Amino acid sequence: MILEGMRILITGSSRGIGAAIARLAKKNGAKVILHGKKESAALKSLSTELGSEYVTCDVSDEQEVRAVVLGLEEKGENIDVLINSAGINLSKPFLEQSGESWNETFMVNVMGTVNFSKAVLIKMLQREKGRIINISSIRGYQNTSGSPAYAASKAAIINLTASMAKEFAPSILINAVAPGFTNTEMTRQTMTERTKRQISEIPVGRLAEPEEIAEVALFLASEKAKYITGQTIIVDGGYSLKR
Ligand SMILES: NC(=O)c1ccc[n+]([C@@H]2O[C@H](COP(=O)([O-])OP(=O)(O)OC[C@H]3O[C@@H](n4cnc5c(N)ncnc54)[C@H](OP(=O)(O)O)[C@@H]3O)[C@@H](O)[C@H]2O)c1
Repeated sequence: MILEGMRILITGSSRGIGAAIARLAKKNGAKVILHGKKESAALKSLSTELGSEYVTCDVSDEQEVRAVVLGLEEKGENIDVLINSAGINLSKPFLEQSGESWNETFMVNVMGTVNFSKAVLIKMLQREKGRIINISSIRGYQNTSGSPAYAASKAAIINLTASMAKEFAPSILINAVAPGFTNTEMTRQTMTERTKRQISEIPVGRLAEPEEIAEVALFLASEKAKYITGQTIIVDGGYSLKR
């Protein structure tokens, strides 16, 4: 059990990649704390399935996030590993994306990661240990499908991961995973003819399953990754090689 006894909080774990990370973490001995924006049926059902508690808040709201983390810490539940998986893709071509939509994308994808990281870092620094794993995207490296706000927000995560890693080493290790096209609700909702063509060009010949992203995120949480910090690991079936 590579995560035995570790308390892992996974934002956006009601479904998709976050839920897959939660299931795998539990299987590997971690104490999992689930999180969703709202108290959805999916979140409650996963909580029952794993026997894990859940918290809810909008990641873009710094006060709400702080209150959730403080509430856990007051119960003695200090976070050993934070995985920032909550995210949105309000996919639009550049000229069609409103300022409001740019703002929402950055508030959730970037500030959500900042807010949760800030909240858990206070205790992590006191305890002189901790891991943070951010979920970026291959779109953070290159715009693959006409959603510049999403791509720019995911590029920000790659940079944020590196700068935070430098600031908080050696006690806190901070890394990211950049998934390619993954079989989740987000991919289904943003599917276009262009996306289908891009998926057909993936060298390994298929979408990633969320569990395949979870394996890498949890490797970064484990003792095996104790000499890695500031890195973003691409998990995309070779898609980014073709450019
Ligand atoms: N799917 C892909 O192909 C792909 C590829 C690369 C990177 N990623 C990244 O991987 C992460 C997970 O993606 P996914 O495909 O698993 O997405 P998903 O299935 O759409 O799930 C999104 C999760 O984020 C939560 N969330 C969204 N907005 C939130 C907010 N304002 N506050 C709190 N929670 C919020 C949702 O909670 P509720 O259920 O309560 O709404 C849900 O748990 C995202 O950061 C995404 O950008 C995905």
